[in-house]
Amino acid sequence: MNILITGASSGIGKQLALDYLATGHDVYACGRNQEKLAALQSELPPTQQNHFHAVVFDVTEREQVQNALSNLEQLDLAILNAGVCEYIDDAKSFDAALVERVFAANFFGVVYCCETLVQHMQSGARIAIVDSMARLFPFTRAEAYGASKAAVHYFASSLRTDLKDHGIAVTTISPGFVETPMTDANDFEMPMRISVAKASIAIQKGLAGGKPHIAFPRIFGWMLAFLHRLPYRWQVGLSSRMRS
Ligand SMILES: NC(=O)c1ccc[n+]([C@@H]2O[C@H](COP(=O)([O-])OP(=O)(O)OC[C@H]3O[C@@H](n4cnc5c(N)ncnc54)[C@H](OP(=O)(O)O)[C@@H]3O)[C@@H](O)[C@H]2O)c1
Repeated sequence: MNILITGASSGIGKQLALDYLATGHDVYACGRNQEKLAALQSELPPTQQNHFHAVVFDVTEREQVQNALSNLEQLDLAILNAGVCEYIDDAKSFDAALVERVFAANFFGVVYCCETLVQHMQSGARIAIVDSMARLFPFTRAEAYGASKAAVHYFASSLRTDLKDHGIAVTTISPGFVETPMTDANDFEMPMRISVAKASIAIQKGLAGGKPHIAFPRIFGWMLAFLHRLPYRWQVGLSSRMRS
């Protein structure tokens, strides 16, 4: 398969790129940093190097996205995984620019990629969009991150319906905590955090099975689905306890 992965220079995207290359696929590995992608390519076994194609662009720049994604080989799968996380430390004096930055990458980055991809993809192709289980619960300090992931989940779910008749499938992916540079920066406890290797296996398995939605780890997903259904007062109470 020809597989495009955004955010392939680090964390979940990097592991997916390595795993798909190791199983004989061609990977269009996207990132902002040419050197990081070149370093990744140089570490691959020689048999895989020709199957690695670096694609350099910033997902927040619509024109760059269009130029980068318009002339690729026919893609079978695009995994839109690039994202950022920033927390709001003081809700009483937060900076809206932080929210804009997070939405630029996590929401509009996906929208820009989809805009170009859907024009070029043929029937039978699949777009997979990485959101987060954070979208299910009003976590403290996660106003920007959680909202961007809830928004992109809705966008993807709606797109799934509207691309169905064109034969393009859409999968949403909601990870719990995964060991990556993004979560290494967190200063709080992360229950049931799993390795990036396990995350990659769960994603590959779900995509191979044609699942419309992939969520892992399963028990953490059940817990958050339960919290999501609690009365709002209880959700606020629990979230406040996490803050203190
Ligand atoms: N780790 C978790 O626990 C977890 C949980 C739920 C959801 N997620 C989601 O999973 C995805 C991957 O996260 P991760 O943990 O693997 O994070 P990560 O290690 O920080 O990797 C993020 C990737 O996104 C790329 N990226 C960020 N901003 C970009 C931009 N403007 N244009 C192009 N590429 C950009 C980065 O590329 P550069 O090298 O150019 O910076 C990097 O490759 C994210 O969408 C994240 O929200 C992660």
